Amino acid sequence: MERTFIMIKPDGIQRGIMGEIISKIEKKGFKIIQAKLFEPSRALVEEHYEEHKGKTFFNELINYILSGPVMAMEVKGEFAVEVMRNMIGDKDPKLAASGTIRGEFANSMNTNVIHGSDSIESAHLELDLWFK
Ligand code: TYD
Ligand code: MG
Repeated sequence: MERTFIMIKPDGIQRGIMGEIISKIEKKGFKIIQAKLFEPSRALVEEHYEEHKGKTFFNELINYILSGPVMAMEVKGEFAVEVMRNMIGDKDPKLAASGTIRGEFANSMNTNVIHGSDSIESAHLELDLWFK
C-alpha cells in the first residue's frame, strides 16, 4: 500500500468543495489516515515548493497557499501516488480532463484547488514535512 500527500488548497476550502473532494477520494476506495485543517507557516510552504524556488510564479504561488486554511491529508491505497495524480488532473486548465478534480473545479493554473505528490519519493518527503 502506498501513501501520498494530498492538500486541498485555500481556494478549495473557501469555495466549499472540500467535502466533495474528500468524497471522491473515499469513493475511490482510498483511506484518509491523517488530516489537518490549518494555516501553514510561510517556512513550511516554501520548503514544500522548494523545487520551484526562483521561478517567476514562486512568490505568487506561496502567497496563494498562505491566503487561508488548507486541508493537509495522508492518503493510503494501492498505487495511491499515481492514481491520485491521475484523479487530480493536469495543472493547465486547457489540459485537465473533465473527469478529474482540476478538470471539474479549476479554471486557472495559479489557483487549482488541490496538490498531490508527484512520486513515491516526494510523497515521503512531503508527508514527513507536513506531519512531522
Ligand atoms: P507543478 O509542481 O509544476 O504542478 P503540480 O501542482 O501539478 O504538481 O507546480 C506547482 C504549482 O505551481 C501548480 O499547481 C500551480 C503553480 N504554477 C503556476 O502558478 N504557474 C506555473 O507556470 C507553474 C508551472 C506552476
Ligand atoms: Mg508538483
